[in-house]
Amino acid sequence: MPKLAVFSQTFFLVLNIATLLQICTAKSYNVVDFGARANGKTDSSPALLKAWVAACSSASESTVLIPQGVVNSVSLYGPCKKKMQFQLLGNIVAPSYESLSNHQSWISFNNVDGLSFIGGGTINAKGSSYWSCKKQQRGCPYGARSFSLQGCNNVLVNGLKSFDSEGVHISINGCNNITMQNLILTAPDDSPNTDGIHIGNSNFVSVLQSKIGTGDDCISIGPGTRNMWMDHIVCGPGHGISIGSIGGAPREEGVENIEVQNSVFTNTDNGVRIKTWERPSNATVMNVKFTNLVMKNVTNPIIIDQQYCPQSNCPKGLWGENQQRQNQQRKWNVKKSASSSIGL
Ligand SMILES: *[C@@H]1O[C@H](CO)[C@@H](O)[C@H](O)[C@H]1NC(C)=O
Ligand SMILES: *[C@@H]1O[C@H](CO)[C@@H](O)[C@H](O)[C@H]1NC(C)=O
Ligand SMILES: *[C@@H]1O[C@H](CO)[C@@H](O)[C@H](O)[C@H]1NC(C)=O
Repeated sequence: MPKLAVFSQTFFLVLNIATLLQICTAKSYNVVDFGARANGKTDSSPALLKAWVAACSSASESTVLIPQGVVNSVSLYGPCKKKMQFQLLGNIVAPSYESLSNHQSWISFNNVDGLSFIGGGTINAKGSSYWSCKKQQRGCPYGARSFSLQGCNNVLVNGLKSFDSEGVHISINGCNNITMQNLILTAPDDSPNTDGIHIGNSNFVSVLQSKIGTGDDCISIGPGTRNMWMDHIVCGPGHGISIGSIGGAPREEGVENIEVQNSVFTNTDNGVRIKTWERPSNATVMNVKFTNLVMKNVTNPIIIDQQYCPQSNCPKGLWGENQQRQNQQRKWNVKKSASSSIGL
């Protein structure tokens, strides 16, 4: 055997033993042991909550294992004693529309520092009843976001699949250092407000190697987002990747250092978009970089809309000649390169 092969085999053996040791020392909390049932009927959210509380208060690094089942809205709170791992192995589905849609979110993590959400499993909110309510404008409930991180730091979400959310698939708010990769987020292109990922008030968020096709933005970036990096995103159908809307309030956090690269947009109405309201606001959008983007059958590959007004009912001239210009400062430093034509 050549020396190199021997070396690399030994290396992998050492690596495997190291991984095994890590798994053995981490404590496992399987929701089945806390009463979860995969019979398609039992609501396993109380079991999940119990497993989380036990793991979160454990003095060693812990893994919560979820095989599959029906889970109603559940809010999981930190801070935890040690880093947490969450392994979603199979499919979890939402209960009926009536019991989910009054909640703001389906599965949420709050104030957790140090979390890996792995396992490659699927969450399916079965949002179609909720969408039909919305389409008929029947005075519908709020509609749950499927997966949300609120006030969390140092989180890895790897391999999560989310189907047919009622509202936003993944919502990130008030978080720091979040990496999301190998995601698949899917909803029909006519489902209302089913954004793939919505981010606000967060710093250092990366979305990598992910496939997102929904009825709204693949990724939308709201006020207070800084240092966000998106790479190898396959987006479509949907409304593309949007910064905004920004400047809806007189006092608002800005958006800065946003980069989208090596991504493909197919059958979307926009590619990359920046949308700001025509209103007095101190909000700014700064240092946005779009590189190596491929647009296939995209209506507006790059669009910067400084008079965003979705209902077309905004009073005109709110910036008024006498308004102090620094209050409406919009700075653009956009590097453009796209394979097709650019519309500004
Ligand atoms: C960011 O979070 C990851 C976990 O996803 C962690 O490994 C890494 O150390 C964190 N980085 C910083 C600078 O804290
Ligand atoms: C706008 O003002 C608010 C409150 O004064 C502040 O918190 C926010 O950071 C400001 N936005 C920008 C972009 O400076
Ligand atoms: C182009 O995209 C639109 C949606 O924006 C879609 O309806 C149409 O079928 C697409 N055309 C092709 C040739 O894929």
